[in-house]
Amino acid sequence: MIFGAILAGGTGSRMGNYTLPKQFLPLGDMPIIIHVVEKFLVHPKIDCVVIGVNPEWHQYMLDLIEKYFPNQSNLLLVDGGTDRNSTIDHIICEIRKHSQNDDDIIVTHDAVRPFVTVKMISDNITLAKKYGICDTVIPATDTIVYSENHMYITDIPIRKNVYQGQTPQSFQIKLFEDVYHAMTKEELDTVTDACKMFMLKGHQVYLTEGHVSNIKITYADDYKSAQIMLGSMNGEKMS
Ligand code: CTP
Repeated sequence: MIFGAILAGGTGSRMGNYTLPKQFLPLGDMPIIIHVVEKFLVHPKIDCVVIGVNPEWHQYMLDLIEKYFPNQSNLLLVDGGTDRNSTIDHIICEIRKHSQNDDDIIVTHDAVRPFVTVKMISDNITLAKKYGICDTVIPATDTIVYSENHMYITDIPIRKNVYQGQTPQSFQIKLFEDVYHAMTKEELDTVTDACKMFMLKGHQVYLTEGHVSNIKITYADDYKSAQIMLGSMNGEKMS
């Protein structure tokens, strides 16, 4: 089976002064997370969608599901963990109650990237089936400057070899379980990205093409950009 995993365990502390975690803020006529969940639910290859939400917002999310997707039998809600990888782990524990197949694929996606496309999800599924693990990226346009001490530059990687990571990130569920459970506590404390975890344990993570429009809403300015982007997309549809 192929599962969509919507990562919504965070509270959006970098957004500043909003009364709701960023995934629940309105974007057009519905909350950001609803745009994301809808994209996964309508995708023809996704069998089931599991949302991992911050436990304090569990009831709030349940109410949203009731409002936007009533009687949707292939949509599950679980409590997220204390970090992003443990939210994925909680989602996988829920999935295992329903399916024990080691070939199952999970397509994980940030609840705050509302402009994910059908093609990105499809490409993720194709690569995860073929290679086991893949990450969505775009080529870096700026020169990336690396500094280990935050005082002076310690490296400038060759730009054509540098990408910016997005989501979805997709993998065979069994591979995630094996790698996650092999991580030490120190590794788990420092590694926030699932693909970094696979790399640490010697796996190859294949690249699939994202898009500049697939932004992550992190700061208030990103939220404003998302509103402008949605407005122009809707304008294009009408004209
Ligand atoms: N996330 C998650 N579980 C966590 C922490 C984060 O599922 N324990 C999710 C977020 O909800 C978000 C995605 O991972 O959809 C990307 O993380 P980020 O943008 O850092 O979100 P927050 O942790 O909410 O933001 P901040 O770091 O500003 O607090």
